[in-house]
This record gives sequence, C-alpha cells and structure tokens, in this order.
Amino acid sequence: MEITTFKDMYIAELQELRSVEGQLAAALSRMVETAANPSLKDALAHHCEQTQVQAQRLDSMLQKHGANPRAHTDQAMQALVAEADKMLAMVKMQDLRDAALIASAQKLEHYEIAAYGTAAALAGQLGLRDDQQLLHQTLNEEKAADTLLTRLAKREVNQDAVAV
Ligand SMILES: [Fe+2]
Repeated sequence: MEITTFKDMYIAELQELRSVEGQLAAALSRMVETAANPSLKDALAHHCEQTQVQAQRLDSMLQKHGANPRAHTDQAMQALVAEADKMLAMVKMQDLRDAALIASAQKLEHYEIAAYGTAAALAGQLGLRDDQQLLHQTLNEEKAADTLLTRLAKREVNQDAVAV
C-alpha cells in the first residue's frame, strides 16, 4: 500500500504499534513464566496486563479512523523478541536468567517508548488531541515500566547475578 498523506503515515504507525503490543503481550507472558525473582515476576505480570489494555486503546483509535488494526506486522519487534528468546535459551542459571530477562525486556520497552513518542508527536501535528492524549498515557506507562525494571535490576536482580 502506498502512503500518500501524513495522516496515512500516522495510521501506519498506529498499525505497527498494534502489532508491537500484540507481540509484546505474548513475549511478556512467556517472561512471567521464566522469571524467578518474585518482584520481577510481579512487574512483568503487571506490565503484561497493561500491554493488553494498550493494545485495546490502539484498536479503538484505529477503529475510529476506519483502519484495520491487523494490517501490519512489525518486523523490528519480531527481531527483538527473537533476540530475547535466543538470549534466554543460552542462560540457564536462574539468577543470571533474571538479569538477562530485564536486559531483554528493557530493549523491548525502549523500542516502544521511541515508537509511542513518534506517534504522539504525529497525532499532535494532525490536531488529533484525543489520540495524542491516549498515546501519551501509554507512553507514560511504558516509561514507568522501564523505570521499575531499572530499579529491580539495580536493587536486587543484578546483585544476585553478579554473585553467581
Ligand atoms: Fe506497551
């Protein structure tokens, strides 16, 4: 499909984000199963639920614009998830694996933060205030999830991993 307007470009970004959230929900639910540290398990489980709400937000935005939420598959996210799976398959020891989980999850979160920042800016330029507000809401949730992972890494998980 050829993109000829700024609005079309924005819609395509939303469709890619919808694909990102779908892939992330699946990846996070696998990570919840894998995590050993209880605080990490809780943080990942909470963000997994949040991810499903974020996907619904994108669905409602796309439906409002008359666009198909399933039109795109985000291949960058597929590659990031494959890297995460590869790393986790190589790390067998529990404490090390939790540290690897955080490292992988943060790469996924940072990708989302970049994508939501762009989408929110595009919505603003198009004067789509409701969209912009929803995208900012999700962006703030992503940032909070990332900050929590950093805190867990510093306070607990990486200290245990270094001691291995
Ligand atoms: Fe998300």
